[in-house]
Amino acid sequence: MDEKNLDDMIAAFGLDAAELHNIAASFRYDIEAGLRGDEGSSLRMLKSYVGLPSGDERGEYLALDFGGTNVRALRIRLDGEGKFEILKKVAKPLYVPGIYDFISSEAEATDLFDFIAGIIDEAIEEDRSRTYCLGHTFSFPSEQTDLYNAKLIVWTKEFATRGVVGEVVNDLLAQALVRNGISNVKPAAVINDTVAVLLAGAYKKNSVYVGSIYATGHNTCYLEPYGGQAKAPMVINMESGGFDKIQINRYDHLLDQRSEMPGQQRLEKMVAGRYLGELFGLCLNEALSLSVDGAFSSVDLSEILSDESQDLIRVRNLVQQHLQVIVSEAMAGKLQALAKALVVRSARIIAATYAGVIWHREGNCPGRQHIAIDGSVYEKMPYAAAALQKALSELLGGETAVDTVLENGGSGLGAALAAASACGSEA
Ligand code: GLC
Repeated sequence: MDEKNLDDMIAAFGLDAAELHNIAASFRYDIEAGLRGDEGSSLRMLKSYVGLPSGDERGEYLALDFGGTNVRALRIRLDGEGKFEILKKVAKPLYVPGIYDFISSEAEATDLFDFIAGIIDEAIEEDRSRTYCLGHTFSFPSEQTDLYNAKLIVWTKEFATRGVVGEVVNDLLAQALVRNGISNVKPAAVINDTVAVLLAGAYKKNSVYVGSIYATGHNTCYLEPYGGQAKAPMVINMESGGFDKIQINRYDHLLDQRSEMPGQQRLEKMVAGRYLGELFGLCLNEALSLSVDGAFSSVDLSEILSDESQDLIRVRNLVQQHLQVIVSEAMAGKLQALAKALVVRSARIIAATYAGVIWHREGNCPGRQHIAIDGSVYEKMPYAAAALQKALSELLGGETAVDTVLENGGSGLGAALAAASACGSEA
């Protein structure tokens, strides 16, 4: 592979101002079509049955955060005035290579939820003396009829556990709690992780109406102020990872074809941490005439992008470790530029979706506000946050009143706030 071809590959991930604008405009179009219930919208626009918190919620709640490779159970005390304290936190991976795997298509719902029940029991330190009200951040597309009832529509992020699709997830959890003798824990609310981030952001600050995850997966929700399909005001989970009015290149196509669900989650496969490393690996296979599967993760991308050494030794070592290939310094430079192009494209696409939401909510002159974002890519990936903010200014005007803010750990706090909304404050 010569450097010219790598330059072409890098260019294939470019996104100019006009394309960015088009994505934002068609995203807004799909929001409005989705609210009307038009079949043509690629956004699910799911109702959450929750509005924004007052900021004065109080009491002790349990929070379950289930949606990525780690599951977490937390005991949280809300103290009002945007304050809270985490009293206990237990976190465990759902997948340990060679030991157990609760997320593959071999895994069963009962085993998965029994495992989660065990983690909850640790969070309450096996206390059976009182009742706990639990809020559940369940980060997959779910059809809700109220704050408790959420049925999994389809797995995303390559999860595939059997016996969960079509089920009321809180019923599966409640049954597992009873099976394990933990009947004093009452699941009361289910929310998406984007909704949790929005609730957490709005608990602490005024002027937060949009919540987003930029991590293993990607998705955004917002407070819908108008009528339409939702009775205002209600938080709507857009499932924006499913947006498909977006031009893909052949590496995106290749990745999609090899995924659990070809044709679905088009936008998510271009932007989310679960896929960025894989996309990079597919490009390298072509560049170096290899066929190595799953060699790179988004953590590797982050490592590649943070190598500031003269001879790019960390990049070269990493490529050698993963692919058993020795690359020149010049080639390592190109690979670093490719990694950057992937991350910058990801951030620009996400910024375009935010602009689409903001235009929908407020038209062309949005008020001063913050978009609450949680997730490892936003927080840790070099270039991601800066490219996102820059693209937002490109779209909304240089003096934009819209900033992004890290809402770290929002899933737990948001779940506790949803529990407070379901069980009442001072539970
Ligand atoms: C996937 C899920 C979505 C979630 C997002 C971030 O896109 O479908 O529900 O919010 O990942 O975790």
